[in-house]
Amino acid sequence: MTQTAIALNDKIADASMMLQVSGLNVYYGESHILRDVDLSVPKGEMVCLIGRNGVGKTTLLKTVMGLLKPRSGSINFAGQPILSKTTDQRARAGIGYVPQGREIIPRLTVRENLLLGYEARQHPPRNRQEIPEEIFELFPILKDFLPRMGGDLSGGQQQQLAIARAIMGQPQLLVLDEPTEGIQPSIILDIERAVRSIIAKTGISVLLVEQHLHFVRQADRYYAMQKGGIVASGPTSELSNDVIQRFLAV
Ligand SMILES: Nc1ncnc2c1ncn2[C@@H]1O[C@H](COP(=O)(O)OP(=O)(O)OP(=O)(O)O)[C@@H](O)[C@H]1O
Ligand SMILES: [Mg+2]
Repeated sequence: MTQTAIALNDKIADASMMLQVSGLNVYYGESHILRDVDLSVPKGEMVCLIGRNGVGKTTLLKTVMGLLKPRSGSINFAGQPILSKTTDQRARAGIGYVPQGREIIPRLTVRENLLLGYEARQHPPRNRQEIPEEIFELFPILKDFLPRMGGDLSGGQQQQLAIARAIMGQPQLLVLDEPTEGIQPSIILDIERAVRSIIAKTGISVLLVEQHLHFVRQADRYYAMQKGGIVASGPTSELSNDVIQRFLAV
C-alpha cells in the first residue's frame, strides 16, 4: 500500500519534469569535468545554465545529447532514462540541440539546411520539401534567404537558421548552447523574442546556456556552475547582482 503510494508520487514528480539530470560525473580522459551535477528542466519552462568560461556547461549539454558518456549518474527525458540511447535516438525522442558555434552546413542552401531538421522527427510530414510557415513567422529573415548558401549568412542569421532547423524537428526540449555568443545586440533581441515566442506557442521546454544577462533574465530558473559543479540555483527573479558578478562574464 505504502509502496504504491511512493511509486505514484515518484511518477507525479517525474511527470512534471522534461529533463532530469542526477549525480552526473563526466571525465575527459582522467580530468574530472562534471561533478555530481543535478539539474532539472520542468515542462514548459526555460532553464538557464550560467557559469564562466571552461566550467563545463558545454560538457553538460553534450552529455545530455549523448555526445559524451558519463562515468556515473542518470539522465531522464520525459520520464524515461536515455543514457543507453544514441544521439540520433535522443533527437528523435524530442530533444532539439543547437550546439555552441552553430554548426549549420555552409555549403547547403538555407532551404536545404532547414529541411535537414525533419530528420529529427519521429514522423516526418508527407511533403518533406515544404517548410512550415511558422518557421518564417519566427525568423522572417530566412524566407528571403532560402536559396542562399548557409555559409553566406551573417553569424546572427546562421544562429537563427540553426534554431529554426532544430524547431523543424518539433522537439519537446530545445537545448541551446550560447546562442548569442559573438552576435550583434539587435539580433540578440530577435533571437530572444523568437525563443520566447516558440515557448508561448508550443509549450516547449528550453535548456539554455547563456552569458547575455538580458536573455538569462527571460528564463524561469537558473543554475550556476563553477568548476564542474552546480553551486547556486533558483528562480531567475531571485538572481542577485552578487550571483551575476560571480557567474556571468559581464
Ligand atoms: N575534447 C576535450 N578534451 C579535453 N578537455 C576538454 C575537451 N573539451 C573541453 N575540455 C575541457 O573541459 C572543461 C569544460 O569545458 P566546456 O567546453 O564544457 O566549458 P564551457 O563552460 O562550455 O566553456 P565556454 O563558456 O568557454 O563555452 C574545460 O576545462 C575544457 O578545457
Ligand atoms: Mg561552452
